[in-house]
Amino acid sequence: MRFGVLTGGGDCPGLNAALRAIVRRAARAGHETVGFRDGWKGVRDGLARPLGVADVDGILGRGGTILGSSRTNPFARPEDAAQVLAQLSAHRIDVLVAVGGDDTLSAARELHRRGSKVVGVPKTMDNDVRGTDWTFGFHSATAVAVDALERLRDTAASHHRAIVLEVMGRHAGWVALATGLAGGADATLVPEEPYDEAALIARVRAAVAARGCAVVVASEGIEVGGRPGTKAATDGFSHELLRERGVGEAVARRIQEVTGVETRSAQIGHIQRGGAPELFDRILATRLGAGAVDLALAGRFGEVAVLRGGAVTGIPLDEAVGPPRTVSPEWLDLLHTFEP
Ligand code: F6P
Repeated sequence: MRFGVLTGGGDCPGLNAALRAIVRRAARAGHETVGFRDGWKGVRDGLARPLGVADVDGILGRGGTILGSSRTNPFARPEDAAQVLAQLSAHRIDVLVAVGGDDTLSAARELHRRGSKVVGVPKTMDNDVRGTDWTFGFHSATAVAVDALERLRDTAASHHRAIVLEVMGRHAGWVALATGLAGGADATLVPEEPYDEAALIARVRAAVAARGCAVVVASEGIEVGGRPGTKAATDGFSHELLRERGVGEAVARRIQEVTGVETRSAQIGHIQRGGAPELFDRILATRLGAGAVDLALAGRFGEVAVLRGGAVTGIPLDEAVGPPRTVSPEWLDLLHTFEP
C-alpha cells in the first residue's frame, strides 16, 4: 500500500512522534508513505513528498510538525473537494492517515463518505475529541500552563496581588481544569460552568485573607457577561479566535473593581502549543500513530485510533467527530474541593 499522511489544525507537541510512528509502522509492513504539506491544503494543492524512515529520524522529541499544518477546510467549495480526490489519485494514495482534531477528522469522515480509504489519529492540546480518553498534546501544553501559574503566584505573593491566567482550550475546559488542579489555583473558570462572579469574588477574598494573594485560571472559552472587545475573527472552519475576546483581562478588571485588590492578567496563548512533547504525549502519539496504520492494514477504513481505558482501539470516525468532549461534573466537583 501507499500511505498518505497529513497533520491538520492547530499544531501541538507529539505530532512528529505520530508521524514517525506512522512511517515506521507502515515501513515495517513493507509499505511506503507520502507526506502532504500544511494539512488539507497540501492534499488539495498536491504538495506532497515521500516520507521515508530516514526523513522521520530524530523527530520524536521535536515540537510542531515537520509537515506543516493549516486550518484549510477541503470541503468549503465543491471544486476543492474534487481537487482533493484528483490529487489523491494522482499521487496513487491507497489510504490517507489524517492526524488532527475535530475539524480535520470531520473532513476525513467526509472524504471517507465519498469513497476514499481514510483512517484518523486524534490530536489536540484541547483534549476535546470524542471517544478517546486523552489526546496527545494536552499534557505537554498544560504543563506549560501550570509552570506559568506557578511563576505568576510568585509575583502575586511578592506584590500582594491577584493574577488571572488565561489559557487556551476553546469550548472545553480541560486545559483550565488541569492547570487549576495541578497548579492549585484559588479559582478556575471553565466554559462548562456559567460565569459566577459572586463565587469568584468570594474565593479571591478568601485567598487574599489567608495568604495575601490569589491566582485564578480562566479558560479562553468562558462568557464574562457582555463580550469585551470587538467581534473576533474566524478561522477556515468558522471558529472564533477566542483569545481576541480577552476574557482573562475582563475577569482581572472585575476582581480589582469589586475587591480593590490590585489585579493583573496574563495570556500565554501559543506558548502552550510549542515545545517538546512530554513523556506521556510521546508514548500516546507513538501508540496512536502505529494504531492507525494497524487499522488500515486490517482494512478498517473510516476508523480512528483512540485510547480507551489504557488500550489502543479503533472507533468509527462518526463517533469521534461532533460536539467537543467537555469536562464532566465529577472533574468539576474535584476541582472545587480545593478552592477556598
Ligand atoms: O484547538 C487548539 C487551539 O490552540 C485552541 O485552544 C485555540 O482556541 C485555537 O487553537 C487557536 O487557534 P489559532 O492557532 O488558529 O490562533
